[in-house]
Amino acid sequence: MKNSTATFKTAKLNGEKLTMLTAYDYSTAKLVDESGINGILVGDSVGMVCLGYKDTLSVTMEDMIHHTRAVSRGAKNALVVADMPFMSYQTSVYDAVKNAGRLIKEGEAQAVKLEGGAAVCEQIEAIVKAQIPVMGHVGLTPQSVNIFGGFKVQGKTQDAAKQLIEDAKKIEKAGAFAIVFECVPAKVAELITKEIFIPTIGIGAGAGCDGQILVYQDMLGMFSDFTPKFIKRYANIGDVMKVAFKEYIKEVQEGVFPSKEHCFKIDEETLKKLY
Ligand code: KIV
Repeated sequence: MKNSTATFKTAKLNGEKLTMLTAYDYSTAKLVDESGINGILVGDSVGMVCLGYKDTLSVTMEDMIHHTRAVSRGAKNALVVADMPFMSYQTSVYDAVKNAGRLIKEGEAQAVKLEGGAAVCEQIEAIVKAQIPVMGHVGLTPQSVNIFGGFKVQGKTQDAAKQLIEDAKKIEKAGAFAIVFECVPAKVAELITKEIFIPTIGIGAGAGCDGQILVYQDMLGMFSDFTPKFIKRYANIGDVMKVAFKEYIKEVQEGVFPSKEHCFKIDEETLKKLY
């Protein structure tokens, strides 16, 4: 059955854990979807894990629409959430609604995600008024990397934790259907999860959240630039790929591949006429 924002609401009410993974292309989205995931995030992490940028800041609306469209074609049952890239919503409420609309109309996502607390609540409210579901994102919000001075855990001091609680409540009030907590102390995420009525989705935020999300390349061992502490490796697909790539290279060099069974035939009479 197709997951929707209603699925997320019901899961929170029933105390059922929600599952999300990222995907950026059709074939991966299909595999993730067929595994029974609740939601797929087309994250602006695409900039780092697919495009090789050092952070997410260079990702454009065109990048997001391109990848969201591919994922939407592969996701039959998962709720597809598209990230709003840096400067697509911070500039004005008008830009926020317009760009959220593009991710729905052109990308065929069912919801959008944007980063920030109280500062973006006006945008969240306006996007929801335009009938587009919004997922919030607080804690280590990667689009603020230059303000944070790096990818650092957030909400560790009393003031910072209080700010997180306030932000989460404001995002809920603005009409978001869920909130991502990234890299915050587990106890803080758990406390907020108990205080708000919309589901919290954690990444580096402990087991007390209503659900979890991971970047698929991280959990499959396909991205080796850095591995955050909160990642669990469920498989080492990167190593499996390298073994296969090396075998292919060797077989081509040795003339083993392609062999007869990989070749197309032509009848001898036709062939003779070519000489
Ligand atoms: O872009 C992304 O992949 C994200 C997740 C880390 C939540 O925002």
